[in-house]
Amino acid sequence: MDTDNHALRILLGISGGIAAYKAPALVRHLLVRNAEVVPVLTPNAVRFVSPTALQAVAGQRPRTDLWDDDAEAAMGHIELARWADAVVIAPATANLMARLAAGMADDLLTTLCLATTAPIFVAPAMNARMWEHAATQRNLHRLRADGVTVLGPADGEQACGEFGPGRMLEPEEIADAVIARLATPRSLAGVRVLVTAGPTREFLDPVRFISNRSSGRQGFAFAQAAHHAGAEVTLVSGPVHLSTPAGVDRVDVVSAQQMKDAVIGRAAESDIFVSVAAVADYRPHQFHEQKLKKSQQPSDEFRMALKENEDIVGSIADVVPRPFVVGFAAETENALDYARQKRERKRLDAIVVNDVSDPEIGFDSVDNAVTLIHAGGEVALGKMAKRAIAQRLVSEIATLYAARADG
Ligand code: C5P
Repeated sequence: MDTDNHALRILLGISGGIAAYKAPALVRHLLVRNAEVVPVLTPNAVRFVSPTALQAVAGQRPRTDLWDDDAEAAMGHIELARWADAVVIAPATANLMARLAAGMADDLLTTLCLATTAPIFVAPAMNARMWEHAATQRNLHRLRADGVTVLGPADGEQACGEFGPGRMLEPEEIADAVIARLATPRSLAGVRVLVTAGPTREFLDPVRFISNRSSGRQGFAFAQAAHHAGAEVTLVSGPVHLSTPAGVDRVDVVSAQQMKDAVIGRAAESDIFVSVAAVADYRPHQFHEQKLKKSQQPSDEFRMALKENEDIVGSIADVVPRPFVVGFAAETENALDYARQKRERKRLDAIVVNDVSDPEIGFDSVDNAVTLIHAGGEVALGKMAKRAIAQRLVSEIATLYAARADG
């Protein structure tokens, strides 16, 4: 694809489902990522979202009809199919997926899909039963085999009041996935990456635990960016409120011990291990099967004995074959010095350090600012969104990993 001289040109296909109301937001997210967008609506989509709104946001006349003489005179549908660097269909209904899988060309959008050689992305959106139906799953399989990239769907509450798979990914996630796939060099193609994310919980009794403020965002963003760069990603996650990035294999754990088991069992089959999780350093010495009663404590002072958790990332250094190991460090003072020492002590190939004393970055926030420290130097990445940090880290780590693999 030669996009050196122009912005990414995206045909945004919109089919007739309730999620079509999110199409103008998706246009915005694509535009701010420097894309040019021409919306193409199916006849049913016009019932859910107004072409006028789309025109206002996209700054391009939306196309709705194969037989629109004016539009065809300006840019015929074959020309339009050639113009596109990518076709993104969001929402893609069950009906649209069926027509696409069957190779039909019975409206402008499906005709464009047949006529283009550009990559096609679909973001399905439908009722959970429709998604799970054997016919839809067959079409999905067919589309993947034809080279279509399927984004989502997510699990969750649906417009019809049901819960389950079939919710369209959020517009921002769709825009990120499309742009990342079109623009990111596949620097980790075929590389197996194991990532940990989130906090751990160390239970004292069935209802009480020790944990920390980690939201899991940086680890999830890293997993997603690694996947976009072509890696096969397994994400071992502590308890977080985040949905799994598309294409990433997720293993849920609760405690540090469970995280260690999940990681150790997979480390030898991983090329790179990135330990983003904020693993609790200590757990209660004793787990009480029954909820502790206040009266069991002799005085108004509660004392709890703690036991140190094993260091997961440190123990990976002994795994054979040893993956390329990257740790994370959250520090509140002397961040760089402590991190340099930590890298040596834990025998890490690299460490990513952030100063969590700044409330605008780090724990629980959208932005971060980090420094990557490795044997050959240090790379400071100034304040930016965790997603952007993740993309930069993936590219730095891919370079370091390739140098090690060569050497
Ligand atoms: O020593 P500290 O907790 O600051 O080290 C942070 C790094 O060590 C992170 O990469 C974290 O995932 C990892 N870690 C671990 N197991 C522990 C504690 C921390 O893997 N028990």
